[in-house]
Amino acid sequence: MNPIRLAPSLLSADFARLGEEVRAIEAAGADLVHFDVMDNHYVPNLTMGPMVCEAIRPHVRIPIDVHLMVEPVDALIPLFAKAGANLITFHPEASRHVDRSLQLIRDHGCKAGLAFNPATPLGYMEHAMDKLDLVLLMGVNPGFGGQRFIGSTLLKLAEARRRIDAHHARGGQPVWLEVDGGVKLDNIAAIVQAGADTLVAGSAVFGAPDNDGGYHTVMRLLREHARGA
Ligand code: DX5
Ligand code: ZN
Repeated sequence: MNPIRLAPSLLSADFARLGEEVRAIEAAGADLVHFDVMDNHYVPNLTMGPMVCEAIRPHVRIPIDVHLMVEPVDALIPLFAKAGANLITFHPEASRHVDRSLQLIRDHGCKAGLAFNPATPLGYMEHAMDKLDLVLLMGVNPGFGGQRFIGSTLLKLAEARRRIDAHHARGGQPVWLEVDGGVKLDNIAAIVQAGADTLVAGSAVFGAPDNDGGYHTVMRLLREHARGA
């Protein structure tokens, strides 16, 4: 099995110490920084914008994985690209023109992703496949960290995996399959077995007992559990 990517979500980090927090997760072996953007419109919560992304950018080398939970989408894409985002993902029902938003992300030099809420059908993938670098399946309804994983996501994951593999078999570009929400030590193996290769974990990482100021132990455990160890 291919190695997985772990993307701790800053939503559960200490917002008063974000620079330290991102350095700590990078030191603990994070592959990506997951950066949740909420606008109190598309989702009932408000988090951080491009200025915060720009502020943390110099603190880490790993890619910043921006998850836009905002509506509309397009105006923020150039701002996040300039703020140092590497991947930008949005929810297709929040954009009037999904193909245009994906192209806008790519035109700004970032990898482009589509995010699917628990009840959003995967049909949006069909005609967008050539412009996708990432498909994100929500394991919870977006807006808050620390929610319980919705079990039916596993079947949906297997379907998304089938579509991505079929695309690749036809000569298509690689597309990452990320799961976001409710990923914990006790379900990460099932999520990876169902086809995910990129795992967001907020409360599981930042809520873990913090021995000597690092997140090494929880990150190692997540990887071991992901392998089914
Ligand atoms: C939820 C966010 C997630 C969230 C995950 O709307 O998109 O990234 O932070 O947090 P946990 O891992 O605690 O479910
Ligand atoms: Zn997220």
